[in-house]
Formats: sequence, C-alpha cells, structure tokens
Amino acid sequence: MRIVILENQDAVHQRAADLFCTLLDQRPDATLGLATGGTPLGTYEELVSRFEEGRVSFAECTTFNLDEYLGLPAGHPESYLRFMEHNLFSRANFDSSYCHLPDPHIEDPAEACRLYEQMIDDAGGIDLQLLGIGSDGHIAFNEPGSSLASRTRVKALTQQTREDNARFFDSIDDVPTLAITMGIGTIMEANSILLLAIGSGKAEAVEAFVEGPLTAQVPASALQMHPTVTVLLDPAAASRLKRRSYYEYVENLQLELEQGVSRHPNG
Ligand code: F6R
Repeated sequence: MRIVILENQDAVHQRAADLFCTLLDQRPDATLGLATGGTPLGTYEELVSRFEEGRVSFAECTTFNLDEYLGLPAGHPESYLRFMEHNLFSRANFDSSYCHLPDPHIEDPAEACRLYEQMIDDAGGIDLQLLGIGSDGHIAFNEPGSSLASRTRVKALTQQTREDNARFFDSIDDVPTLAITMGIGTIMEANSILLLAIGSGKAEAVEAFVEGPLTAQVPASALQMHPTVTVLLDPAAASRLKRRSYYEYVENLQLELEQGVSRHPNG
C-alpha cells in the first residue's frame, strides 16, 4: 500500500484528481470505479474544474459506482444515481449511457447484482477504483463480517452506517436498511485502487485497515492483499498511524524517483 499523508483535504482531492486525469490522459476510454458519500465530493469538484478548464475529458470513459440504496423511490434525491448526476455526471462531458450504478428497481435484486457483475466483466474490468471508508472499516457497503471474497449482492446496513448517513436524510428512519453493493472480491479485481480518508472520524478505521490484521471484521483490510493501492489521507485521518514517519520517508523517496532523481528507496 502506498500511504500518502497530505497537508490538508484540498491536497487529498488535488492528488486524487491528478490520478484520474493521468489515467484518462493515457487511456481516454478507461473504466472508472466511483464512490458516493461526503469524501469524494471535493475530488469531483476538482475534476469538474479541470474539465471546465479543458484539462480532462470524460467523453470516452465508462464508470461503475460501488453501490446503490435499495428501497428508495426512483428519482429520490438521496439515491446514489441522483448524487452522481448532481455532483459529477451532469457537470462534465460524461456519456450517461456509459455511467452505471446497480439498478435497485429491477424486481429481483439478485438479478440486478448478477447483471452488474456481468456489465463490469463485459467492460473489461475496472482500471481505477475510488473508495471512501466507513467509520466501521467498511468499503462500499461491505459491512464488518462481509466475506473478503464477496461479489455484488444485497447487504443490510449496520446501525452505525445508517447513523453516519442520516445527515443526508430528514431522519435516521428515512435511511434505507438495505443496499446493493459491489463485493470485496469485485473491488479487489480492479487494476488499481485509490482510497481517500479525511477527518478524525476515520482515524481508527484507517489505523485498523492499514496496520491491523487482515480480517473480515475490518473489510478495508482486504486491501492489504491488493498489489496497487494508494491511500490518500489528511493529517487527522492519519493521526493514529504508528508507522507514519516511515510512510512519509518512503513517499518522499518515491516522489524523488518519479521526478527523475537518481536515488532508490533501497539505495
Ligand atoms: C459510498 C460508499 C461508502 C462510503 C463510506 C464513507 O459509495 O461506498 O463506503 O465511501 O460510507 O462515506 P463518507 O465519505 O460519507 O464518509
């Protein structure tokens, strides 16, 4: 895992946007995995600004979102489809026919899950998957105890996740109890993964998944088994990491390498 501790949340969003723009520059038809929630909003703002400045185009890319609530009426303002349209898709040149979320309105949710896996497969898999992390260590809606090999399926949200997400609804009673979510196994098949965490509310989960044991009780810890994960943190989210100075040391060497300075981390 490449652990990058940046000076503030703006720097996190700039760096995340850099990674998306570099990929789209090299491969305009890349397949992006996207997330909702509060964390990626600043990244989406930055991508929209860069689009407006003519620095990036999304015209040829395909997108797959991690998850969607089950049980909200079509067009509900807190559905993740509406979230994505409002915060990203309608603000840049995405082709909506290439932008996918799990469909919560198919009569048989199991069929919606199977179709979603099939669509990801047909698109050739995900090149870069963006993730946030729940305060309980979940990624997408894979709550603690989720199989580390799980595929797209219906999951019940924990009380903690419903409380965390209640800020987007009038009351916690309005937060759905179920969602369709990519599985951990699905996420792990992405070529590369970018996880963002901001704020002290994520510090414990970050410590657990980066430095704790690999366990289904901390679903994000599965990322320890993925070869190409970048974790972008602000100082508050990084505040409980024990090996912080080592991560900073390695990151400085890595940056020097990328900037062409002839030194090597092991040199
Ligand atoms: C959203 C998602 C969730 C969030 C997580 C953190 O698509 O899959 O795992 O990333 O709940 O949410 P925020 O960013 O609101 O703290």
